[in-house]
Amino acid sequence: MSNRITLFPLTAAVSNAGYLTIGGADPMAMAAEFGTPLYVFDEVTLRRKCQEFAGEFGRRYPDTTVIYAAKAFINRALLKIISEEGLGLDVVSAGELAIAQSVSFPMNKVYFHGNNKTAAELKLALEWRVGHVVVDNLNELSMLAKIANENHSRPDILLRLTPGIDPHTHQSIATGVIDSKFGLSRNNWEVAVETAMSTPELNLVGLHFHLGSLLFEIEPYLAAIDLVLKFAAEMKQKYRFTLRELDVGGGFAVQYTLDAPAPPVSQYAEAITAKLNSQCQELGLTPPRLIIEPGRAIVGQAGVALYQVGVVKDIPGVRRYVAVDGGMGDNIRPALYGSKYEAVVVSKVTAANTDTVTIAGRFCESGDILIRDIALPPVSPGDIIAIPDCGAYCLAMASNYNASLKPAIVLVKDGKARLIRRRETFDDLTRSDVLLTLRDVVTRGGRKY
Ligand code: LLP
Repeated sequence: MSNRITLFPLTAAVSNAGYLTIGGADPMAMAAEFGTPLYVFDEVTLRRKCQEFAGEFGRRYPDTTVIYAAKAFINRALLKIISEEGLGLDVVSAGELAIAQSVSFPMNKVYFHGNNKTAAELKLALEWRVGHVVVDNLNELSMLAKIANENHSRPDILLRLTPGIDPHTHQSIATGVIDSKFGLSRNNWEVAVETAMSTPELNLVGLHFHLGSLLFEIEPYLAAIDLVLKFAAEMKQKYRFTLRELDVGGGFAVQYTLDAPAPPVSQYAEAITAKLNSQCQELGLTPPRLIIEPGRAIVGQAGVALYQVGVVKDIPGVRRYVAVDGGMGDNIRPALYGSKYEAVVVSKVTAANTDTVTIAGRFCESGDILIRDIALPPVSPGDIIAIPDCGAYCLAMASNYNASLKPAIVLVKDGKARLIRRRETFDDLTRSDVLLTLRDVVTRGGRKY
């Protein structure tokens, strides 16, 4: 049996007939009922991941708050699960905030991030009483103070510090390095604390850093905690600043391929909480509340993409292309970051992987390749291919390129699949277009035709 199965959701299994099952449900039956491409989320895995983060960190450091980074994947049914599991939420736009509000997600558990929040977004955040605003820069600090004054509120804020630490990940997803558009650079840390402390409209409760995403190394977190706690101790001396919350961001890795295992959550938890405790003791600081912001590690493994094979094209001595009915429209990660994935043919999980093929998408770009050179059993048109670890940053970054319809999403549990987002229709493609009439052309253009 293919050990690729271990990359799938925790409930994945292989039936007696050698078929993959997820949450007790049959991918071929789901593909037939809901169509392909289809994204399948396993409820058990989602809940276990929430519990694992809360448990592993909370057991070692009881004052931990886990907030799910909604940018990894946002959907109303998912937010209900996140909320039922007791997690808070990291949002980065008024859009994410509005989706959270639409399912009555507790606003006091929301942290509002973003490197260029607009005045309108900040106003909305204060009106809806979001728990914390994570202030990214000095402009935002003064803008927020003004809005808070008009709104007669006094928001709790964190300051986002850029620690200048390289977490050794893909350049596009490293954020804590010196040359970053995110956060306050080192020369502005103190002035930001001083300004926030002396602004009565703002309640500075803590500090935040986010090093980047898909971090297989733990050491960078420890280096950043070291730096930021020393700074907090200095600010305590100088301005009587009390660090009540330390938000160490997200970035916890997941295993996409068999050759790239990720550290277990317990390992991140052990190292981060031990460092926090020892360093606070050393510096004479009261240990703050610890905030962690996992996105990918909550939803990544829970999601599986199902595609149907259409064309199989052989170029003798060069390559065999297996074209599927999705691609960069629903998963841009291989094209954007060179991300690697594994795959199985759902009806041939126990068969030997005798062929080497390249899984291509159906979009009009040569770069639309999902997996290059993967060993699979012989693949035929009509086969259903399943790619694991597609829960994070696939649908969240999906587009309508080539006027494709964004896929349906189902949630599986106990052998049942329930639709949590319907497939788009042609109407969805034209809904927002404004069709000009001849009269519009005449009046707006100011010329007669
Ligand atoms: N907190 C902040 C402030 C963030 O910017 C992010 C991710 C997270 C938490 C969650 O990080 P995670 O635990 O998911 O690694 N599109 C890229 C990833 C972009 C991550 C952006 N920020 C990808 O597909 O790999």
